[in-house]
Order: sequence, then structure tokens, then C-alpha cells
Amino acid sequence: MGYGAMRLAGPQVWGPPRDVDAAIAVLREAVARGVNHIDTSDYYGPHVTNQLIKQALHPYPDGLVIVTKVGARRGADKSWLHALSRQELIDAVHDNLRNLGVAALDVVNLRVGGVAAPSEGPIEEPLTVLAELKHQGLIRHVGLSNVTPTQLAEGQTITEIVCVQNFYNVAHRTDDRFVDDLAVQGIAYVPFFPLGGFQPLQLDAVQAIADRHGATVRQIALAWLLHRSPVMLPIPGTGSVAHLEENVAAAGIELTQEEIDALDDAGE
Ligand SMILES: NC(=O)c1ccc[n+]([C@@H]2O[C@H](COP(=O)([O-])OP(=O)(O)OC[C@H]3O[C@@H](n4cnc5c(N)ncnc54)[C@H](OP(=O)(O)O)[C@@H]3O)[C@@H](O)[C@H]2O)c1
Repeated sequence: MGYGAMRLAGPQVWGPPRDVDAAIAVLREAVARGVNHIDTSDYYGPHVTNQLIKQALHPYPDGLVIVTKVGARRGADKSWLHALSRQELIDAVHDNLRNLGVAALDVVNLRVGGVAAPSEGPIEEPLTVLAELKHQGLIRHVGLSNVTPTQLAEGQTITEIVCVQNFYNVAHRTDDRFVDDLAVQGIAYVPFFPLGGFQPLQLDAVQAIADRHGATVRQIALAWLLHRSPVMLPIPGTGSVAHLEENVAAAGIELTQEEIDALDDAGE
């Protein structure tokens, strides 16, 4: 189970959190509970979540993988805008290096497309910039976010792609075939909005199974993801230590085949 740091920034992912100590406690508790995959971006806040991660965890423990994203920026009105020009990507990588306090970034996802769904189109130009930065030693691995299988195939002609981060959860299953293809290729699939994001999951099938396990709907949704594919790396986001504990504990829930089948049928 990973952890998504977006929720550590203030309301609307803007500015500092109301309680900085609480945000730091969430990050330290995540690592203490064995989370070794933290998803972030320098455009959360902007800069805020990366600075919190550095404050809470630097110097980073061995084995902790911090995955960031470039390709977007925030407008002054808190909007989410593309930032895919050569200079914007170079600046974003340097912002991440500085705010995380590292000499090289473990994984950088190139984020294209929209949040609700990817949109087809060439990614060669921006991805070539990341490949160059990888060649310079500033990035160890490259991933893609909000992409289609066609865009992944194009990306693989430019550089090795280690992960795909797209919108996916038990109720939102547009990527079902993509998930299976990535498992065959041994590429990590990182579902964002694993708990529904800004619209919490509500599925009768999940509730029934949660009741049977004495678990919450969110825990069953996370457990289903982990059962769904060996390459699935969920990154549930929270600003609460109690919620973090609940989410990490979901990794210990064993679903029966019958329950998995029922959940498989519940999505769309
Ligand atoms: N690539 C992209 O375009 C993209 C887009 C969106 C997100 N992301 C990444 O994906 C990560 C996950 O997405 P997300 O945080 O938006 O959505 P999420 O994990 O689906 O849901 C987070 C929401 O659920 C609540 N929550 C979490 N655990 C809970 C629990 N145990 N009980 C009750 N409520 C709980 C959180 O509130 P509390 O804070 O109150 O717990 C928050 O409102 C982000 O942190 C970010 O790193 C990537």
C-alpha cells in the first residue's frame, strides 16, 4: 500500500495545511507502518506537499520511493493547467529536486491528458525532455499519467516506462484491459482516486462485503485493488493519521474468490 500526498496541502490542494504538525505526523506514520511508495507533485500546494515530505522524512530512509509528476501547473485562480513545454518541464524537475531535497528523483511521471480521462495525442516532445533529464542523471525512472495504451506504446519507443498512473477504482473501470496488459509487461499500474477522489465510493456490493469482514467500504475498495493485479500499487490520499492507519490495514484483508467476483461485477 502506497500513500498519495496530495491531500496534505490546504483546501483545494492550495497553500499550506491548516495543521502542519498533523500533516507531518501522517507522513511519518506512513513510513513507520511500512509504506515505501509516496506519490506527490510540486504543483500540489504548489510546492507545499514536497516541502512537507522533506520536512517530515529527510534524510529519506533506504527503500522509500518518492514518485512525482510534471506536466501541470496551477493558475492563480487555483485551476489546473497543462505545463508541457520544454522549459516548464525542466523547471518542474528542478523544483521537485530542490523542494524534496534530493540530487535525483526516483520516478517522474509525465502527466498529460485530463484528470477524468486521457485524450489521445502524441507525447514524444515532452517525453523526450524527460528522457534527456534521465540521461543527465536527474531522474532515475520515467512513468506516464493520464495516458492511453497507444500513448504508452509511443512512450516506450522513447524511454523505458516503469509505471502508469490513471484514474481507476472498484467503481471506475475504464482501464480494465490496460491493467491486464501492463501486468503482462511487468509495468506498475498506480490507480489515482482509489477511494473515489472527490466523490467518495458508494456501492452496495462493497458495503455488503465490508459488513462481512467488519471492515469499511474504503478498506474493501483498497483490498480489491490489491487482489486485482500483481502490478497494482494503490496510493490512497489522506490528511488524517486515523484514515492512514485504516487504509494501510486494508492490505491485510483477504477477499474470497466469490467476493472478488462480486466486486468485479460491481464496477463499470
Ligand atoms: N495523476 C493525476 O492526475 C492524479 C490526480 C489525482 C490524484 N492523484 C494522486 O492520487 C492520490 C490519491 O488520490 P486522492 O487523494 O485525490 O483520492 P482518494 O485516495 O481516492 O481519496 C481521498 C479522499 O478520501 C478521504 N479518505 C481517505 N482515506 C479515508 C478513510 N480511511 N476514511 C475516510 N475518508 C478517507 C480523504 O479525506 P481525509 O483527508 O479526510 O482522509 C480524501 O477526501 C493523490 O494523493 C495524488 O497523489 C493523481
